[in-house]
Amino acid sequence: MADFFSNQRKSLPIALEVDDVKGKTYIVTGATGGLGYEVAKRLVRLEAAKVIIGVRNAEKGESAKTAIETQAGRKDVIEVWALDMASYDSIKAFSKRMETIDRIDALVLNAGVSHAAWQVKEGSEAHMTVNFISQYLLTFAAFPSLQASAIKYDIKPRVVLVGSMGGFFAYESLNKFPQTGILDDLNDKAKWEATYDNRYPVSKMFEHFAARELASLKPVSETGVIVNVVDPGLCKTDLNHELSAFTRFKAWCAKLVMGRSAEEGSRTLIHGIAAGEDSHGKYLTSCEIREDHIPDWVTNESGKVLQKQIWTELLEKLETIQPGVVTAVLHD
Ligand SMILES: NC(=O)c1ccc[n+]([C@@H]2O[C@H](COP(=O)([O-])OP(=O)(O)OC[C@H]3O[C@@H](n4cnc5c(N)ncnc54)[C@H](OP(=O)(O)O)[C@@H]3O)[C@@H](O)[C@H]2O)c1
Repeated sequence: MADFFSNQRKSLPIALEVDDVKGKTYIVTGATGGLGYEVAKRLVRLEAAKVIIGVRNAEKGESAKTAIETQAGRKDVIEVWALDMASYDSIKAFSKRMETIDRIDALVLNAGVSHAAWQVKEGSEAHMTVNFISQYLLTFAAFPSLQASAIKYDIKPRVVLVGSMGGFFAYESLNKFPQTGILDDLNDKAKWEATYDNRYPVSKMFEHFAARELASLKPVSETGVIVNVVDPGLCKTDLNHELSAFTRFKAWCAKLVMGRSAEEGSRTLIHGIAAGEDSHGKYLTSCEIREDHIPDWVTNESGKVLQKQIWTELLEKLETIQPGVVTAVLHD
């Protein structure tokens, strides 16, 4: 927290230049607005050959494409692909389509939600579905395509998971977890609804735990793929639009004082794409690798036990959703 306030006000670097991006192919989820839109815009301006945006609303996706290409003075760079992270069938179709692309340089898993009221998607509480399970369903389903790009072009494709420092506020929910069956338990509305405002942090923390475990099991030397987790900081976007007027007012005040613009926040995601092997499985914020920002309860012995448990349950879930999706990546 100590450097949070000063970092929020810092002007962030743009970690990629035309020479890094020119001719390359990127995929960004949730690019109809906010951070994802700004990332797609930057990549188009930096002369990417192709930027695929995964969107659940085709009309908004087409408007984003038109606006970005018009501003950049380029045409036919953005492809708008249907992707609803609240639908496992949609993710399966999206990843299948990814197999048709010859080259993928980075997959930026940016789409995310912050809900005010309990919702269920695909049988699980909606934050857990969209911000956690779906992120990894797409990561695993896309992994073989990323590995194929790594081999064919001798590159190191990135998976940039957009996390949040908010995940470090998940701690208050931790002591209410059972030892096993945590994902199922989190669907118990009667138990959890009263503390629902802690659910977004929990989903982001789980996303983070899983990235650490995946990176530890699959080093870049083995797969050629770099996976990192980026916290964009507090940014002026629409993320909180469902929350109560009072909560939005508090957030608005905080953002007025220290919020980054969506463009400034998107620089952290650009940094995630640029970051090298040393970022594998790591927490990145303000365009730096900042493992020192991770609280002890994540990395200590009980944190490691929790990480393994979440990982085990995630893999079971993914194999149920799409049999073979996990074993295709973790086969050894
Ligand atoms: N803003 C912050 O202060 C902040 C801080 C930490 C982390 N983050 C993370 O940054 C990421 C981007 O958020 P943002 O701040 O840019 O928020 P945003 O302005 O609300 O943008 C979210 C994007 O995700 C898309 N999306 C939501 N649900 C989706 C679904 N089911 N399928 C496909 N796309 C979906 C939205 O599409 P629609 O247009 O269809 O709604 C939108 O394009 C999120 O993962 C968020 O958790 C943000």
